[in-house]
Amino acid sequence: MRTDPSIASLAPGHLFCFGLGYTAERLAIRLLAEGWTVSGTVQTEGKRAAMAALGITAHLFGPEHPLADPTGSLGEVTHLLSSIPPTEAGDPALIEHQAALRAAPLLRWVGYLSTPAVYGDRQGALVQETDTPNPGSARGHRRLAAENAWVETFSHLDPGESAGGSIQIFRLSGIYGPARNAIAQVRAGTARIIDKPGQVFNRIHVDDIATILMASMARPNHGQIYNVADTEACASGDVVRHACALLGVSPPQPIAFDSAALSAMARSFYSECKRLDTRRLTAELGVELAYPTYREGLASIMSSDFAR
Ligand SMILES: NC(=O)c1ccc[n+]([C@@H]2O[C@H](COP(=O)([O-])OP(=O)(O)OC[C@H]3O[C@@H](n4cnc5c(N)ncnc54)[C@H](OP(=O)(O)O)[C@@H]3O)[C@@H](O)[C@H]2O)c1
Repeated sequence: MRTDPSIASLAPGHLFCFGLGYTAERLAIRLLAEGWTVSGTVQTEGKRAAMAALGITAHLFGPEHPLADPTGSLGEVTHLLSSIPPTEAGDPALIEHQAALRAAPLLRWVGYLSTPAVYGDRQGALVQETDTPNPGSARGHRRLAAENAWVETFSHLDPGESAGGSIQIFRLSGIYGPARNAIAQVRAGTARIIDKPGQVFNRIHVDDIATILMASMARPNHGQIYNVADTEACASGDVVRHACALLGVSPPQPIAFDSAALSAMARSFYSECKRLDTRRLTAELGVELAYPTYREGLASIMSSDFAR
């Protein structure tokens, strides 16, 4: 992977993750290996123990369960990642702890993980970060409101001051990687090919997201938005068929979109179509993706599975 050398000079800090989920945990593991301190929130005692085993201090946080000591939990934090999706009530972290977040004394970088749902349906067109958001789903409206609320919360940060300070928005396409991928779905018998002619979307490997977040920490840009995606938007069936070919099995029969049993979230996802322009990742952050398409991503997943 060719990546901006400034990542290598990123001085260790203290990352706090609201939500230690799939992406945040993968980033945390990279940063721990580089001497960082990582803490964050989980919803269950079991997950708290799993995080402790990795060297991550986790605090219980969830609906109607605020952090026990927000000021103390955030007192030493230099970098903050928000990876909790908004609920109908709003952004869980901001509902409970907006004042403590604003007052965090050492905070100098904030990353908010969002989705391209804020753009709405673009009928397959290439979407840039400078395009005006136009959400077409309740999910997209909630996201846009959450993005705006996070930016507003940290509007007092002044990147011009010596201590610095910035908030960045990352609009992530479909996340995949170890344990969450089409090969695992084919093996588990849960892979489906939803047939909706013309419908395409981008994906992004979780390790490329971690690289992009670290590159942003090395090159903060207050208020900036980044599309985070691979270079090849395609139909979901292409990925499933490729996974089947790698495994040497026949692909499942396509299911027509109109008759497919889909969750409300999946139906809203498939009802929109766009391609993400990601030139800013290279031009501004100096990142070249390790997995520019699903083919490199699935090849790496296959080879690490065989290496076990
Ligand atoms: N998955 C995708 O393809 C995709 C695409 C674009 C954007 N996104 C967004 O990007 C972000 C990161 O994605 P991800 O897949 O890494 O997320 P993830 O694995 O689902 O992690 C989300 C984290 O938030 C926690 N959480 C969820 N609801 C909560 C609530 N109401 N209160 C407190 N904690 C809560 C979860 O806790 P538990 O661990 O206890 O469940 C989990 O740790 C999310 O906001 C996601 O919606 C995802």
